[in-house]
Amino acid sequence: MTSLLDIQNLKLNFKTVQGQVEVLHGIDININAGEKVALVGESGSGKSVTARIILGLLQELRQARISGEVYFDGRDINTMKPKDCAKLRGTAMSMIFQDPTSSLNPVITIGQQFTEVLRRRNNKLAQAICDEQATRMLNDVAIPDAQRVLNAYPFQLSGGMNQRVMIAMALANRPKLLLADEPGTALDVSVQAQTLTLMRELVNDYQTAVLLISHNLGVVREFADRVYVIYQGRIVEDGPTSALFANPKHAYTQALMNAVPRIVGTGLAKVPEVSDAFLAPRITHSDVT
Ligand SMILES: Nc1ncnc2c1ncn2[C@@H]1O[C@H](COP(=O)(O)OP(=O)(O)OP(=O)(O)O)[C@@H](O)[C@H]1O
Ligand SMILES: [Mg+2]
Repeated sequence: MTSLLDIQNLKLNFKTVQGQVEVLHGIDININAGEKVALVGESGSGKSVTARIILGLLQELRQARISGEVYFDGRDINTMKPKDCAKLRGTAMSMIFQDPTSSLNPVITIGQQFTEVLRRRNNKLAQAICDEQATRMLNDVAIPDAQRVLNAYPFQLSGGMNQRVMIAMALANRPKLLLADEPGTALDVSVQAQTLTLMRELVNDYQTAVLLISHNLGVVREFADRVYVIYQGRIVEDGPTSALFANPKHAYTQALMNAVPRIVGTGLAKVPEVSDAFLAPRITHSDVT
């Protein structure tokens, strides 16, 4: 099967005042159509820059130097013209960010924002059809009083509701790939859990592939079919979620799992302490568990 997303030997350098800094050292990630994949790793390991490269956004930044291949649906995002890549965003691929309220435009109603999203795919779509589709999508994310929400501004809705609106907008054009970068971590944990459950149901219904970026191993375990563990710009371990959780082999993955806070215990979550063992070669679990 050809992959929907096939990242090969992706490297990223930033030009800084201190000189060149390599942030990604040649990563490979593969996602099949409809598959739910997680990318997990500590702060600064390179998760968000990877998402921004897939969306073709970092390629537009002058200080960023990118090499390797990022095939999305058979076309290399790295060599695509910026305007062709822009057409993919919000249509064939879309993104959900950490903080829904700041990702929505505060001075435009939810209804108008929906119309803009839907017209990215078809700019002649009549207003009545936009409203009808937006209403249906809001119902799908468990917002029954869609009319009130469409007339509202983001600040008039709760964080959890804005998060559901973001999910509805991100899926409105039935993208093939959804990138979700720490979705809902700005919300309280129960609302975050509800919205993730909802997102999982919807992507299953719509057959959308997902790259879920998260620090939270509990969320990853619930959500993803397959996991990539990233450490300092390198993928150190990957495999089916069940195999990786049952038998984490890489020293960094083991440390990450040991750092998860327990209900019984004494302290707060620990960040794994840096160890030379974390630089051990990559481990891939086979698909047979
Ligand atoms: N525009 C930039 N210029 C220079 N360095 C950058 C730039 N953007 C990101 N970086 C660096 O790239 C590295 C990876 O950043 P990235 O945002 O991908 O981390 P992350 O894994 O998403 O972390 P977090 O979990 O905190 O969101 C970091 O060391 C960061 O400082
Ligand atoms: Mg990030």
